[in-house]
Amino acid sequence: MNVFVTGGAGYIGSHVVRRLIEAGHRVRVYDNLSEGHAAAVPAETLFVGDLMDEDRLVEGLADGFDCVMHFAAHCYVGESMEAPEKYYRNNVVGSLRLLSAMRKAGAGRIVFSSSAATYGEPDEVPIPEDHPTRPINAYGQTKLDFEHALRYYAGAYGLGYVALRYFNAAGAAPDAHIGEDHDPETHLVPIVLEAALGRRDAVKIFGSDYPTPDGTCVRDYIHVWDLAQAHILAMEAIETGSGRTYNLGNGSGYSVREVIETARRVTGRKISAVDVPRRPGDPPALVASSRRIAQELGWTPEFPDLQTIIETAWRWHQAHPDGYGD
Ligand code: UFG
Repeated sequence: MNVFVTGGAGYIGSHVVRRLIEAGHRVRVYDNLSEGHAAAVPAETLFVGDLMDEDRLVEGLADGFDCVMHFAAHCYVGESMEAPEKYYRNNVVGSLRLLSAMRKAGAGRIVFSSSAATYGEPDEVPIPEDHPTRPINAYGQTKLDFEHALRYYAGAYGLGYVALRYFNAAGAAPDAHIGEDHDPETHLVPIVLEAALGRRDAVKIFGSDYPTPDGTCVRDYIHVWDLAQAHILAMEAIETGSGRTYNLGNGSGYSVREVIETARRVTGRKISAVDVPRRPGDPPALVASSRRIAQELGWTPEFPDLQTIIETAWRWHQAHPDGYGD
Protein backbone atom coordinates (compact mmCIF):
# COMPACT_ATOMS: atom_id res chain seq x y z
CA MET A 1 0.00 0.00 0.00
CA ASN A 2 0.98 3.67 -0.32
CA VAL A 3 1.23 5.10 3.18
CA PHE A 4 1.53 8.75 4.20
CA VAL A 5 3.12 9.04 7.66
CA THR A 6 2.92 12.34 9.54
CA GLY A 7 5.57 12.63 12.24
CA GLY A 8 7.32 9.67 10.63
CA ALA A 9 10.77 10.94 11.64
CA GLY A 10 9.88 10.83 15.35
CA TYR A 11 10.50 8.00 17.78
CA ILE A 12 7.44 5.82 17.21
CA GLY A 13 6.83 7.01 13.64
CA SER A 14 10.33 6.07 12.46
CA HIS A 15 9.97 2.52 13.79
CA VAL A 16 6.64 2.15 12.00
CA VAL A 17 8.23 3.50 8.79
CA ARG A 18 10.98 0.87 9.07
CA ARG A 19 8.48 -1.96 9.48
CA LEU A 20 6.25 -0.65 6.68
CA ILE A 21 9.20 -0.57 4.27
CA GLU A 22 10.35 -4.02 5.38
CA ALA A 23 6.82 -5.30 4.70
CA GLY A 24 6.98 -3.92 1.14
CA HIS A 25 4.82 -0.80 1.50
CA ARG A 26 5.65 2.54 -0.16
CA VAL A 27 6.05 5.33 2.37
CA ARG A 28 6.12 9.12 2.37
CA VAL A 29 7.17 10.73 5.65
CA TYR A 30 5.61 14.15 6.30
CA ASP A 31 7.54 15.81 9.12
CA ASN A 32 8.61 19.36 10.03
CA LEU A 33 11.72 17.97 11.77
CA SER A 34 11.05 20.10 14.85
CA GLU A 35 11.26 16.98 17.00
CA GLY A 36 11.89 14.27 14.42
CA HIS A 37 15.28 13.35 12.97
CA ALA A 38 16.03 13.23 9.24
CA ALA A 39 18.55 10.44 9.93
CA ALA A 40 15.79 8.24 11.35
CA VAL A 41 14.18 7.67 7.93
CA PRO A 42 15.42 6.94 4.39
CA ALA A 43 16.13 10.31 2.71
CA GLU A 44 13.98 9.53 -0.32
CA THR A 45 10.86 9.11 1.85
CA LEU A 46 11.11 12.53 3.53
CA PHE A 47 8.73 15.33 2.55
CA VAL A 48 9.30 18.28 4.88
CA GLY A 49 6.14 20.10 5.92
CA ASP A 50 4.19 21.32 8.90
CA LEU A 51 0.90 19.90 10.14
CA MET A 52 -0.54 23.43 10.32
CA ASP A 53 0.13 23.97 6.59
CA GLU A 54 -2.91 22.54 4.83
CA ASP A 55 -1.72 23.44 1.31
CA ARG A 56 1.53 21.60 1.90
CA LEU A 57 -0.39 18.60 3.26
CA VAL A 58 -2.54 18.53 0.11
CA GLU A 59 0.64 18.69 -2.00
CA GLY A 60 2.17 15.84 -0.03
CA LEU A 61 -0.95 13.72 -0.32
CA ALA A 62 -1.40 14.36 -4.05
CA ASP A 63 0.14 11.13 -5.34
CA GLY A 64 -2.65 8.89 -4.10
CA PHE A 65 -2.32 7.28 -0.68
CA ASP A 66 -4.25 4.26 0.58
CA CYS A 67 -3.71 5.14 4.21
CA VAL A 68 -2.47 7.94 6.46
CA MET A 69 -0.72 7.22 9.75
CA HIS A 70 -0.81 10.23 12.01
CA PHE A 71 1.98 10.56 14.60
CA ALA A 72 2.80 14.28 14.37
CA ALA A 73 1.92 15.65 17.80
CA HIS A 74 3.30 17.31 20.88
CA CYS A 75 3.54 14.64 23.55
CA TYR A 76 4.73 15.98 26.90
CA VAL A 77 2.08 15.72 29.59
CA GLY A 78 3.72 18.31 31.89
CA GLU A 79 4.25 20.84 29.09
CA SER A 80 0.63 20.44 27.99
CA MET A 81 -0.48 21.83 31.36
CA GLU A 82 1.83 24.85 31.07
CA ALA A 83 1.24 25.55 27.37
CA PRO A 84 -2.17 24.08 26.46
CA GLU A 85 -2.51 26.36 23.43
CA LYS A 86 0.51 24.70 21.82
CA TYR A 87 -1.18 21.31 22.30
CA TYR A 88 -4.62 22.35 21.07
CA ARG A 89 -3.12 24.08 18.01
CA ASN A 90 -1.02 21.17 16.87
CA ASN A 91 -2.86 18.12 18.18
CA VAL A 92 -6.39 19.35 17.43
CA VAL A 93 -6.26 22.21 14.89
CA GLY A 94 -3.34 20.72 12.92
CA SER A 95 -4.95 17.28 12.97
CA LEU A 96 -8.22 18.72 11.63
CA ARG A 97 -6.22 20.32 8.81
CA LEU A 98 -4.85 16.89 8.02
CA LEU A 99 -8.40 15.50 7.79
CA SER A 100 -9.39 18.39 5.54
CA ALA A 101 -6.36 17.80 3.30
CA MET A 102 -7.19 14.09 3.18
CA ARG A 103 -10.70 14.85 1.97
CA LYS A 104 -9.35 17.17 -0.72
CA ALA A 105 -6.81 14.55 -1.81
CA GLY A 106 -9.26 11.65 -1.66
CA ALA A 107 -7.42 9.75 1.09
CA GLY A 108 -10.05 7.97 3.18
CA ARG A 109 -8.22 5.87 5.78
CA ILE A 110 -6.26 6.88 8.86
CA VAL A 111 -4.47 5.17 11.76
CA PHE A 112 -4.24 7.61 14.66
CA SER A 113 -1.71 7.63 17.53
CA SER A 114 -3.85 8.02 20.58
CA SER A 115 -2.84 7.50 24.17
CA ALA A 116 -3.56 5.87 27.50
CA ALA A 117 -3.70 9.48 28.71
CA THR A 118 -7.28 9.57 27.36
CA TYR A 119 -8.37 7.47 30.38
CA GLY A 120 -7.06 9.70 33.18
CA GLU A 121 -7.14 7.95 36.55
CA PRO A 122 -8.64 4.52 35.86
CA ASP A 123 -11.28 2.88 38.03
CA GLU A 124 -9.78 -0.53 37.25
CA VAL A 125 -6.64 -2.08 35.76
CA PRO A 126 -6.13 -3.67 33.29
CA ILE A 127 -8.07 -0.95 31.47
CA PRO A 128 -10.47 -2.08 28.73
CA GLU A 129 -11.28 0.23 25.80
CA ASP A 130 -14.82 0.86 27.06
CA HIS A 131 -13.51 2.28 30.33
CA PRO A 132 -14.70 5.91 30.81
CA THR A 133 -12.36 8.50 29.29
CA ARG A 134 -11.61 11.34 31.71
CA PRO A 135 -8.24 12.86 30.82
CA ILE A 136 -6.43 14.68 33.63
CA ASN A 137 -4.11 16.68 31.38
CA ALA A 138 -4.40 18.78 28.23
CA TYR A 139 -2.32 16.30 26.24
CA GLY A 140 -4.76 13.45 26.89
CA GLN A 141 -7.72 15.75 26.25
CA THR A 142 -6.40 16.76 22.81
CA LYS A 143 -5.95 13.10 21.87
CA LEU A 144 -9.50 12.33 22.99
CA ASP A 145 -10.91 15.38 21.17
CA PHE A 146 -9.40 14.15 17.91
CA GLU A 147 -10.74 10.62 18.47
CA HIS A 148 -14.20 12.20 18.69
CA ALA A 149 -13.62 14.14 15.47
CA LEU A 150 -12.66 10.88 13.74
CA ARG A 151 -15.91 9.27 14.84
CA TYR A 152 -18.05 12.09 13.43
CA TYR A 153 -16.01 12.34 10.21
CA ALA A 154 -16.47 8.59 9.71
CA GLY A 155 -20.24 8.96 10.06
CA ALA A 156 -20.57 12.02 7.85
CA TYR A 157 -17.81 11.66 5.25
CA GLY A 158 -17.13 7.94 5.11
CA LEU A 159 -13.68 8.15 6.71
CA GLY A 160 -12.27 4.84 7.94
CA TYR A 161 -10.06 4.93 11.03
CA VAL A 162 -8.35 3.05 13.79
CA ALA A 163 -7.29 4.88 16.97
CA LEU A 164 -4.48 3.14 18.87
CA ARG A 165 -4.18 4.06 22.54
CA TYR A 166 -0.55 3.47 23.42
CA PHE A 167 0.60 2.78 26.93
CA ASN A 168 4.37 3.31 27.54
CA ALA A 169 6.36 2.84 24.36
CA ALA A 170 10.01 1.91 24.91
CA GLY A 171 12.86 -0.02 23.29
CA ALA A 172 14.54 0.34 19.92
CA ALA A 173 14.69 -1.47 16.59
CA PRO A 174 16.26 -4.93 17.11
CA ASP A 175 19.27 -3.96 14.92
CA ALA A 176 19.75 -0.76 17.02
CA HIS A 177 19.92 1.47 13.93
CA ILE A 178 17.07 3.66 15.12
CA GLY A 179 15.89 4.40 18.64
CA GLU A 180 14.59 6.99 21.07
CA ASP A 181 16.09 10.51 21.04
CA HIS A 182 13.98 13.30 22.55
CA ASP A 183 15.18 16.74 23.53
CA PRO A 184 14.53 17.25 26.36
CA GLU A 185 14.19 13.61 27.39
CA THR A 186 11.44 13.06 29.95
CA HIS A 187 10.72 9.33 29.57
CA LEU A 188 11.83 6.92 32.23
CA VAL A 189 13.62 4.20 30.20
CA PRO A 190 15.97 6.50 28.24
CA ILE A 191 16.63 8.56 31.37
CA VAL A 192 17.65 5.45 33.31
CA LEU A 193 19.93 4.34 30.46
CA GLU A 194 21.52 7.78 30.20
CA ALA A 195 22.31 7.43 33.90
CA ALA A 196 23.84 3.99 33.17
CA LEU A 197 26.05 5.65 30.53
CA GLY A 198 27.16 8.23 33.10
CA ARG A 199 25.51 11.03 31.14
CA ARG A 200 23.15 11.89 33.96
CA ASP A 201 23.38 11.87 37.73
CA ALA A 202 20.92 9.95 39.85
CA VAL A 203 17.53 9.09 38.37
CA LYS A 204 14.81 10.99 40.17
CA ILE A 205 11.94 8.76 41.27
CA PHE A 206 8.84 10.93 41.09
CA GLY A 207 6.81 9.88 44.11
CA SER A 208 7.28 6.93 46.47
CA ASP A 209 3.98 7.22 48.34
CA TYR A 210 1.59 5.98 45.68
CA PRO A 211 -0.91 3.21 46.54
CA THR A 212 1.18 0.63 44.64
CA PRO A 213 3.21 -2.36 45.95
CA ASP A 214 6.49 -0.40 46.30
CA GLY A 215 5.01 3.10 46.41
CA THR A 216 6.19 4.11 42.92
CA CYS A 217 4.07 4.48 39.76
CA VAL A 218 3.22 1.38 37.76
CA ARG A 219 3.20 1.46 33.95
CA ASP A 220 2.69 -0.99 31.10
CA TYR A 221 5.79 -0.87 28.87
CA ILE A 222 5.35 -1.94 25.27
CA HIS A 223 8.12 -2.52 22.75
CA VAL A 224 8.07 0.08 19.98
CA TRP A 225 8.65 -2.71 17.44
CA ASP A 226 5.46 -4.49 18.58
CA LEU A 227 3.62 -1.18 18.52
CA ALA A 228 4.78 -0.74 14.93
CA GLN A 229 3.43 -4.14 13.92
CA ALA A 230 0.03 -3.21 15.37
CA HIS A 231 -0.13 -0.23 12.99
CA ILE A 232 0.30 -2.48 9.99
CA LEU A 233 -2.44 -4.82 11.20
CA ALA A 234 -4.69 -1.82 11.89
CA MET A 235 -4.08 -0.36 8.44
CA GLU A 236 -4.98 -3.64 6.77
CA ALA A 237 -8.23 -3.90 8.77
CA ILE A 238 -9.65 -0.39 8.27
CA GLU A 239 -13.03 -0.20 6.60
CA THR A 240 -14.31 3.08 5.22
CA GLY A 241 -17.18 4.72 7.08
CA SER A 242 -16.33 3.13 10.40
CA GLY A 243 -13.77 3.20 13.17
CA ARG A 244 -12.28 1.10 15.92
CA THR A 245 -10.26 1.90 19.04
CA TYR A 246 -7.62 -0.41 20.49
CA ASN A 247 -5.36 -0.33 23.53
CA LEU A 248 -1.74 -1.29 23.05
CA GLY A 249 0.15 -2.58 26.03
CA ASN A 250 1.36 -5.92 27.36
CA GLY A 251 -1.03 -6.21 30.28
CA SER A 252 1.79 -6.28 32.88
CA GLY A 253 2.62 -3.39 35.12
CA TYR A 254 6.13 -2.50 36.32
CA SER A 255 6.96 0.07 38.97
CA VAL A 256 9.57 2.79 38.52
CA ARG A 257 11.83 0.91 40.94
CA GLU A 258 11.41 -2.32 38.95
CA VAL A 259 12.40 -0.51 35.74
CA ILE A 260 15.55 0.84 37.40
CA GLU A 261 16.38 -2.59 38.87
CA THR A 262 15.91 -4.29 35.48
CA ALA A 263 18.14 -1.68 33.84
CA ARG A 264 20.85 -2.34 36.44
CA ARG A 265 20.71 -6.04 35.58
CA VAL A 266 20.72 -5.48 31.82
CA THR A 267 23.53 -2.93 31.79
CA GLY A 268 25.62 -4.24 34.68
CA ARG A 269 26.19 -0.57 35.53
CA LYS A 270 25.60 1.40 38.68
CA ILE A 271 22.44 3.50 38.38
CA SER A 272 21.83 5.80 41.34
CA ALA A 273 18.28 6.75 42.16
CA VAL A 274 16.82 9.31 44.52
CA ASP A 275 13.25 9.71 45.76
CA VAL A 276 11.73 13.11 45.00
CA PRO A 277 8.14 14.42 45.22
CA ARG A 278 5.42 13.27 42.84
CA ARG A 279 5.25 14.73 39.32
CA PRO A 280 1.88 16.44 38.82
CA GLY A 281 -0.51 14.62 36.49
CA ASP A 282 0.84 11.07 36.99
CA PRO A 283 -1.84 8.42 37.63
CA PRO A 284 -0.61 5.76 40.12
CA ALA A 285 -1.07 2.78 37.78
CA LEU A 286 -1.82 2.36 34.07
CA VAL A 287 -2.00 -1.15 32.66
CA ALA A 288 -3.70 -2.08 29.41
CA SER A 289 -6.05 -4.81 28.51
CA SER A 290 -5.06 -5.45 24.88
CA ARG A 291 -7.43 -8.35 24.46
CA ARG A 292 -9.49 -6.55 21.82
CA ILE A 293 -6.62 -6.06 19.36
CA ALA A 294 -5.37 -9.58 20.01
CA GLN A 295 -8.78 -11.06 19.28
CA GLU A 296 -9.87 -8.85 16.40
CA LEU A 297 -6.58 -8.25 14.57
CA GLY A 298 -4.46 -11.14 15.81
CA TRP A 299 -1.83 -8.85 17.33
CA THR A 300 0.74 -10.79 19.38
CA PRO A 301 3.70 -8.98 20.89
CA GLU A 302 7.10 -10.42 19.98
CA PHE A 303 8.98 -8.69 22.86
CA PRO A 304 6.54 -8.53 25.78
CA ASP A 305 9.01 -8.66 28.66
CA LEU A 306 10.56 -5.60 30.19
CA GLN A 307 14.08 -7.06 30.16
CA THR A 308 14.08 -7.46 26.35
CA ILE A 309 12.57 -4.00 25.90
CA ILE A 310 15.38 -2.50 27.97
CA GLU A 311 18.05 -4.65 26.27
CA THR A 312 17.13 -3.28 22.83
CA ALA A 313 17.01 0.28 24.17
CA TRP A 314 20.43 -0.25 25.79
CA ARG A 315 21.95 -1.45 22.50
CA TRP A 316 20.72 1.74 20.81
CA HIS A 317 21.97 4.02 23.61
CA GLN A 318 25.38 2.36 23.69
CA ALA A 319 25.79 2.61 19.92
CA HIS A 320 24.40 6.18 19.79
CA PRO A 321 25.24 7.93 23.07
CA ASP A 322 24.45 11.28 21.42
CA GLY A 323 21.27 10.00 19.80
CA TYR A 324 21.09 11.10 16.17
CA GLY A 325 23.63 13.82 16.94
CA ASP A 326 21.55 16.57 15.33
N1 UFG B 1 9.45 8.86 36.05
C1 UFG B 1 10.32 9.03 37.10
N2 UFG B 1 11.48 9.72 36.87
C2 UFG B 1 11.79 10.25 35.64
C3 UFG B 1 10.88 10.06 34.58
C4 UFG B 1 9.71 9.36 34.82
O1 UFG B 1 10.08 8.59 38.22
O2 UFG B 1 12.84 10.88 35.51
C5 UFG B 1 8.22 8.10 36.28
C6 UFG B 1 6.97 8.88 35.98
O3 UFG B 1 6.58 9.63 37.09
C7 UFG B 1 6.00 7.76 35.60
C8 UFG B 1 6.89 6.69 34.97
O4 UFG B 1 8.21 7.00 35.40
O5 UFG B 1 5.42 7.24 36.75
C9 UFG B 1 6.85 6.70 33.47
O6 UFG B 1 7.05 8.04 33.05
P1 UFG B 1 7.25 8.45 31.53
O7 UFG B 1 7.45 9.94 31.50
O8 UFG B 1 8.28 7.60 30.91
O9 UFG B 1 5.88 8.05 30.86
P2 UFG B 1 4.40 8.51 31.24
O10 UFG B 1 3.76 7.31 31.86
O11 UFG B 1 4.33 9.77 31.99
O12 UFG B 1 3.84 8.91 29.83
C10 UFG B 1 3.56 7.99 28.84
C11 UFG B 1 3.72 8.65 27.48
C12 UFG B 1 2.74 9.77 27.34
C13 UFG B 1 1.37 9.27 27.61
C14 UFG B 1 1.30 8.60 28.94
C15 UFG B 1 -0.03 8.01 29.19
O13 UFG B 1 5.01 9.12 27.34
O14 UFG B 1 2.81 10.26 26.03
O15 UFG B 1 2.24 7.56 29.00
O16 UFG B 1 -0.34 8.18 30.52
F1 UFG B 1 0.49 10.27 27.61
